Amino acid sequence: MGHENVQQLQTLSRITGDQFALVANIQKPAVAILGITDGNGLCNITAGCCKTVIGMDINEEYLNICRERYSAMPELVLYSIDLVTEKDRAVELLKPTDIVIANMIVEHIHLNNFMDIVSELTKPIVSVTIQFNPDGHTVSHSGYEAAFDDILQHGQNCEELSLVAAMCDAGYKAAGRKEYILPNEKIFIRLDFK
Ligand SMILES: C[S@@+](CC[C@H](N)C(=O)[O-])C[C@H]1O[C@@H](n2cnc3c(N)ncnc32)[C@H](O)[C@@H]1O
Repeated sequence: MGHENVQQLQTLSRITGDQFALVANIQKPAVAILGITDGNGLCNITAGCCKTVIGMDINEEYLNICRERYSAMPELVLYSIDLVTEKDRAVELLKPTDIVIANMIVEHIHLNNFMDIVSELTKPIVSVTIQFNPDGHTVSHSGYEAAFDDILQHGQNCEELSLVAAMCDAGYKAAGRKEYILPNEKIFIRLDFK
């Protein structure tokens, strides 16, 4: 796995840790992770602190790796599910959750399908991470900070604006926004909704 990939995974893991902190005030929260992949970020969960941790993914191989890696986490329940064609099932499974974490999954299942799912929930916290890929420019070491200043000034990208608008239409309120800057031109943007 490339150095860049490792850094992205590490950053996503850190983001997941920050998202768990959003329910720190809830005793034994029920947490759900859409597109859990191989369990990246689950290392941030203290054993026994959650009532349940639901992980969903379409990829059985990822789920098997996740199951194996976290076999010592009895609260982890994994579902092999297609979040595009099995939305009603997803809604039923997600109903009791306090937080739905969706990192780098909306672009896979598309915003309309994501909205069909979260619109049906009785308004848990929903925390989404998307990637902002400023196009074209090579970031040299010397110009690195300046390049990102420029990007940050440009502010929200189209995907972010569409997501925020759709979530607000569905009755959620924007509750937080954080950027995680990777040393390769890319930015992860975490958006929290309540
Ligand atoms: C970029 S990865 C997510 C990264 C992960 N959340 C993390 O923090 O490292 C996208 C995941 O979405 C899953 N996925 C793609 N399409 C899906 C679908 N239709 N239903 C469920 N999961 C899907 C993929 O199998 C993959 O594990």
